[in-house]
Amino acid sequence: MDIPRQHTIREANHRILDPFTDEKLATLGRALRLTPGTSVLDLACGTGEMLSTWARAHGTVGTGVDRSSVFIARARERATSLGVQVTFVNGDASGYVAERPVDVAACLGASWIGDGVVGTLDLLEKSLRPGGLALLGEPFWREDPPDEATVQGSGAPSRDRFRSLPALVESFGEAGWDLVEMVLADEDSWDRYVAAQWLTTRRWLDENPSDELWTEMRAELDTAPLAYVTYQRRYLGWGVFALMRR
Ligand SMILES: C[S@@+](CC[C@H](N)C(=O)[O-])C[C@H]1O[C@@H](n2cnc3c(N)ncnc32)[C@H](O)[C@@H]1O
Repeated sequence: MDIPRQHTIREANHRILDPFTDEKLATLGRALRLTPGTSVLDLACGTGEMLSTWARAHGTVGTGVDRSSVFIARARERATSLGVQVTFVNGDASGYVAERPVDVAACLGASWIGDGVVGTLDLLEKSLRPGGLALLGEPFWREDPPDEATVQGSGAPSRDRFRSLPALVESFGEAGWDLVEMVLADEDSWDRYVAAQWLTTRRWLDENPSDELWTEMRAELDTAPLAYVTYQRRYLGWGVFALMRR
């Protein structure tokens, strides 16, 4: 089963499908002190930008798994254009376990594949060598949302689905993990993720007037920018957390 086409329309020009920039992804790679030959598994890898650019910068090797055939095709093209060897698998990442234990197991922006933070860390651990790094990309509330309109406008599935940053960090410890590094999104990196979708959507609307999703995408562009600047940009944070089992 593929993912809804709306995602691949909005993110047709994105290489990173989360509120991170090239610079933040590179900062994360340096922060983790990756060395040549480090093996990386990326569950819900999107277009594989992390795996491909880390392979180029650090000589890592890796595998990415994603449900979207469109994103996986783009991931393979990107790896080829950068001249790096990365394996991409088109399929469901929930339950995916590497054949051989890896040094780094990641899931950035898709913790539903393990039914939340703890379940996703449990899933990553099944692929991880002892002493390896789990990477989790996860939203958190920067400020307590004052009402339901804020929760809905932020794009969160529900208030309870996300925690504050301190509560999220506390939950890692409670689940038996040490937080050993983190790189957080900021408002500029959120803009690169979200605002960039508006131009892509607008151009798609102009070029695809008879598409069956036209009316839906038009309605989305009518409301998305205001909802973003009113709610999401202020209230929702995001970060990648590097964790080691205690
Ligand atoms: C927010 S994007 C993050 C992509 C990538 N990790 C990144 O940071 O650029 C979420 C990704 O999860 C993928 N996805 C959703 N459900 C999935 C599943 N059950 N198995 C594998 N991939 C899934 C989507 O296709 C999408 O690429």
